[in-house]
Amino acid sequence: MADWRALREEMVARVRGRGGIGEEVAGALRAVPRHLFLPGVPPGAAYRDEAVVTRRDAEGRPVSSSSQPTIMALMLEQLGVEPGHRVLEIGAGTGYNAALLAHLAGPGGRVTSVDIDPDLVGRARGHLAEAGCPGVEVVCGDGAEGFAPGAPYDRVIATVGVWDLFPAWLEQLAPGGRIVAPVDLNGVQRSVALERTDGHWASRSVVACGFMRLRGPFAGPEVLRPLDRDSELMVSLPRARETGDVLAVLGDGPVSELPTGVAAGPAALADGFGLWLAAHEPRWCLLSESRPRWLAAGTPGRWGFTTALGIVEDGGLCLLHPREAPAPPVVRAFGPGGAGLAAGLLAHLRAWDAAGRPSTSGLRVDVYPGGGLRPGDGARPGDLGRPPDVGVRPGTGVPPAGDGDGSGTTAGDGLVIRKRHTTFVLSWPAARG
Ligand SMILES: C[S@@+](CC[C@H](N)C(=O)[O-])C[C@H]1O[C@@H](n2cnc3c(N)ncnc32)[C@H](O)[C@@H]1O
Repeated sequence: MADWRALREEMVARVRGRGGIGEEVAGALRAVPRHLFLPGVPPGAAYRDEAVVTRRDAEGRPVSSSSQPTIMALMLEQLGVEPGHRVLEIGAGTGYNAALLAHLAGPGGRVTSVDIDPDLVGRARGHLAEAGCPGVEVVCGDGAEGFAPGAPYDRVIATVGVWDLFPAWLEQLAPGGRIVAPVDLNGVQRSVALERTDGHWASRSVVACGFMRLRGPFAGPEVLRPLDRDSELMVSLPRARETGDVLAVLGDGPVSELPTGVAAGPAALADGFGLWLAAHEPRWCLLSESRPRWLAAGTPGRWGFTTALGIVEDGGLCLLHPREAPAPPVVRAFGPGGAGLAAGLLAHLRAWDAAGRPSTSGLRVDVYPGGGLRPGDGARPGDLGRPPDVGVRPGTGVPPAGDGDGSGTTAGDGLVIRKRHTTFVLSWPAARG
């Protein structure tokens, strides 16, 4: 018979050991029995600090899971739920995070959780009943539309990756409210806590994350393409395009290897350089794999899979291969076009380095109403016939080098990413040049 309480304490200690988790959120993790939301999952696995996939689509892509406890805890910190709050969650999944939210909102609060999948909704209701969480309403619907009957909400949280901020969420949020969502920044995701200020939305905090994407008519253009079912190798792209036979060029092995001389460790590369590459290179890609086979030399990911950043084009691929500092990473080229792409990747890496290695920490996200895709363009929700504009305003975009030469500057108006309903501006205001 498993000692659930001891397993739970170990999980809480591991999550807190990563830093940034306060007493209230730790108390919620301690109080809610995660194993009741993961029936059939062995006790040890239910309390590991890992995501547990609970549903896949026909092609093997994960479409529902109980997310990794650490990222759930970090997002709950970002959300700042207080007793008595009315909370809307998008992505009920197993119901576990809704139970954590209900614990934080207390008996005077209210939690509404929406999932698009009726089967999952039924299961989440069952789990919540078994765990004794009466204060949660689980509804079936498209979370992009929020849930108007329960509005207004003091807090809105999405536990599924979104490409844009939806008008319904902004309308259903109470004055002074906060939204936390894993938003797409040209193919990479960051969990952003946003509050209304001066007619737009400004980030209060930003955290690296990796969520499965929103399904349904409001889904964004991002693509997750399975390449090998056995190892669960997938390629993520910011939007659909032709990449050729990635598995064939990978399978032939690298044709060359380029030293970089930029001494940065795996974590800095995955976070800061990942953001940079997504912002500056339209052909960028991220390969990920759960059972390492093709990417044995990638970065062991924080989310339980190995990843490798690169550039892909029909007939060529290059991947960044990080090594433990102080050894600089190398770039491996695959296929006939690989060497040219590798040279391009190296140029991006040097530019990131010269810019002071901007990363998630220090990133500010401002979201303005109005985007690039409008009904007048013939666009419907999810109709991505016209790609969003991505650009860097002259002289700004990313922070200049912060190596202390004393010439103070700001990051100006930043990198602009147009969505359908909103326009995102990314900047690093604390950076100096
Ligand atoms: C990572 S799981 C959420 C995990 C959940 N919070 C938990 O604690 O188990 C993402 C969920 O979002 C749901 N989802 C995807 N698209 C959606 C949409 N358009 N509206 C509502 N839910 C959606 C999926 O069905 C999936 O259950």
